[in-house]
Amino acid sequence: MEQFKGQPRLPKFAVPKRYDLRLKPDLSACKFAGSVAVDLDIVADTKYIVLNAADLSLVTGSVSFTNRGFSKVLEPSKIDLVEADEILVLEFAETLPIGIGVLHIGFEGTLNDKMKGFYRSTYEHNGEKKNMAVTQFEPADARRCFPCWDEPACKATFKITLDVPSELVALSNMPIVEEKVDGHLKTVSYQESPVMSTYLVAVVVGLFDYVEDCTSDGVKVRVYCQVGKANQGKFALHVAVGTLELYKEYFAVPYALPKLDMVAIPDFAAGAMENYGLVTYRETALLYDDQHSAAANKQRVATVVAHELAHQWFGNLVTMEWWTHLWLNEGFATWVSYLATDSLFPEWKIWTQFLDESTEGLRLDGLAESHPIEVEVNHAGEIDEIFDAISYRKGASVIRMLQSYLGAESFQRSLASYIKKYAYSNAKTEDLWAALEEGSGEPVNKLMNSWTKQKGYPVVSVKVKDQKLVFEQSQFLSSGSHGEGQWIVPVTLCCGSYDVRKNFLLQTISETLDIKEFLSDRSGAASAWIKLNVDQAGFYRVKYDEDLASRLRYAIESKYLSATDRFGILDDSFALCMACQQSLTSLLTLMGAYREEHEYTVMSNLISISYKVARIVADATPELLDDIKRFFISLFQYSAEKLGWEPKQGESHLDAMLRGEILTALAVFGDDLTLNEASRRFHAFLDDRNTSLLPPDIRKAAYVGVMQRVSTSNRLDYESLLRVYRETDLSQEKTRILGSLASCSDPNIILEVLNFLLSSEVRSQDAVFGLAVSIEGRETAWTWLKDKWEYIAKTWGAGFLITRFVSAIVSPFASLEKAKEIEEYFASRSKPSIARTLKQSIERVHINANWVQSVQNEKHLADAVKDLAHRKY
Ligand code: BES
Ligand code: ZN
Repeated sequence: MEQFKGQPRLPKFAVPKRYDLRLKPDLSACKFAGSVAVDLDIVADTKYIVLNAADLSLVTGSVSFTNRGFSKVLEPSKIDLVEADEILVLEFAETLPIGIGVLHIGFEGTLNDKMKGFYRSTYEHNGEKKNMAVTQFEPADARRCFPCWDEPACKATFKITLDVPSELVALSNMPIVEEKVDGHLKTVSYQESPVMSTYLVAVVVGLFDYVEDCTSDGVKVRVYCQVGKANQGKFALHVAVGTLELYKEYFAVPYALPKLDMVAIPDFAAGAMENYGLVTYRETALLYDDQHSAAANKQRVATVVAHELAHQWFGNLVTMEWWTHLWLNEGFATWVSYLATDSLFPEWKIWTQFLDESTEGLRLDGLAESHPIEVEVNHAGEIDEIFDAISYRKGASVIRMLQSYLGAESFQRSLASYIKKYAYSNAKTEDLWAALEEGSGEPVNKLMNSWTKQKGYPVVSVKVKDQKLVFEQSQFLSSGSHGEGQWIVPVTLCCGSYDVRKNFLLQTISETLDIKEFLSDRSGAASAWIKLNVDQAGFYRVKYDEDLASRLRYAIESKYLSATDRFGILDDSFALCMACQQSLTSLLTLMGAYREEHEYTVMSNLISISYKVARIVADATPELLDDIKRFFISLFQYSAEKLGWEPKQGESHLDAMLRGEILTALAVFGDDLTLNEASRRFHAFLDDRNTSLLPPDIRKAAYVGVMQRVSTSNRLDYESLLRVYRETDLSQEKTRILGSLASCSDPNIILEVLNFLLSSEVRSQDAVFGLAVSIEGRETAWTWLKDKWEYIAKTWGAGFLITRFVSAIVSPFASLEKAKEIEEYFASRSKPSIARTLKQSIERVHINANWVQSVQNEKHLADAVKDLAHRKY
């Protein structure tokens, strides 16, 4: 028995083949009862059956093992529920016969309020509070609902039966085969599923309306919404049908199940979950309201749907062998969701927005406390934390890099053969590489190992020397130090024109390229711009020497470069500045080259960089803060004037999104005209929620705007905003408001806001949205976090949302003393589920502190800032 404790994986002597699972949730008592009969293949001599179970109690006398062939019923001589390892160990008096047998277990559990396992979510119906029962099993919580082999590689078929109140909708992965009503209860049984992993099993029981459509090959698709809100499901339904048809072509395999249901769940920890045939979503990620949703909300719905449906193939049909390969699921689904969204909505230019993924990946992976894409997992408790920007965003980015290296067609063909080969089975990272290597003839495995098996990424420095370009790679770290890593970097470059290109693999530390011929005979100019990492397809940063950098600045001003390249130059420059490898003066000068920028993605990054710069300046050289703000305000004028406050007839989706972000930025930087206008429109909105003066795309800007002027003695607008929060029943509106409240600069108000987040008025899934605290509220937030830590740990500690409290409140600090204080505070309070995030957040504080110091030491910064701030454009 001892030999089974402390192991990362279950022993392999019993293999589950089929689960016959019956569940009876009691929605008012918040309990459930269940029974499971598992067809097991005993493949090695053993007296033990070891499987997963947690937070369940077994019904006395309900555990038995029947050997079919011998018709013999064995009862275990010993039953051990090992809490720490979440396993159930059954010991039998004799060795179990090799071959198929059936394990029976009866059990009971609680419908918990932790948004994992089998849990309850609450909603109102006709003014009455109600519970629904929902499952969320990924990564390792199926074991909290029924005893099972809760590992992705243990695939089996599932035959599910539910006993539920007869008036409710009861959904599971497969279509219903039979429904028997018996008074207040009904017994619903579902078709048996194909083989699948436990983390994809799902059940939803509650009151819902739905909208329905069908794909061209007959898959029935439904979107389930709160009663009375079915209209809000139409957009997601449209996306789902289009996406299923697209993936069927792309993966060259049809969707494997007869139906697909998508359900909006009012309490949901993640954004969405790809349960096979029954995808669950946060309301904000599924529902779209014509009147009150913003363009950004619409885009979010489309990309989330496209992501979850990608998993129906990549993840559900072909499943990772173990959590080390989680990135295969998440990185791939993230990448391919752009492909689908682009095909459905080409006018969104969604690939330019892909850069948000890569930049967030680069940001996290620039920390010494990052981890490799393929990460060792030794305990179930460690899995939650790897659903992070490395698995998702770096994962998606290295896939994009590889696709652009191999070419789209070759890539797709190889993928299709990978899906076909591993369908209804499991695969590892190297299996995907092997398929791509076979399809392309390129050394994919060797190339990609350098990206997935070690953490970090390179910065490629480039300079001109004697008519030659000299390239050098070294590991980029935001702390400014250099790591030891080395990569095989697919370097691409353009010179003077997008027609003059060069590609090569940088396999060593440095490389020289003779550019004489391709410089002189084409563009003719030895002074032509040279842009590396064309289209930002590679997961690395580039550092140009001063000469090349100034040519690029000129090329930006002259509008020679594509939006993706403009984004990349800015983003790399910002990262280098934060790492103290480039002065703030030169970053600001570069930012000045973007004054006529009009592209959403680039502008949006310019804005988020300006927020970060303003925060550092506030710490480093507060006397320059006003001038910095003035500079940023002038930088955004061009777009602001073009876009105005009113939506233009027939304008693009991207302009609609940009308007909101620009106005929000102008509000944050205290532009008086913007604040006045925000107030005027907000009050019109208070008088009439359907006023045309405050369309959804600019609401956040107006909310942030009015919060800038709120203070303890001037709290009316704050209270009005809370009233809007209370009165709306649209989650997107609530989220928008939560994201605006803490932008106020009055610490007393901030404290009120933070306490509000913990009140019953904010669902626990949403509290983290209120943590976007202004720099003036930073200290208040930290004191509050310490004050409430016990409560926070108790309420959110079981899931991954707790990490957001830590990172949001800790990371904004910028001094070594604070880093030390934080470290000391958490010394006795850290635990496995926040350990990584805590280390990363503290590292960020160190990085900020270095940066502050470097800015303070910068000569001529004040002159440069004054000059930029007062320049007339
Ligand atoms: N498989 C995840 C859901 C998940 C996340 C389960 C974390 C367990 C822990 C799902 O496919 C997903 O990735 N959802 C994203 C949204 C997506 C569009 C990036 C999410 O929840 O944020
Ligand atoms: Zn996913």
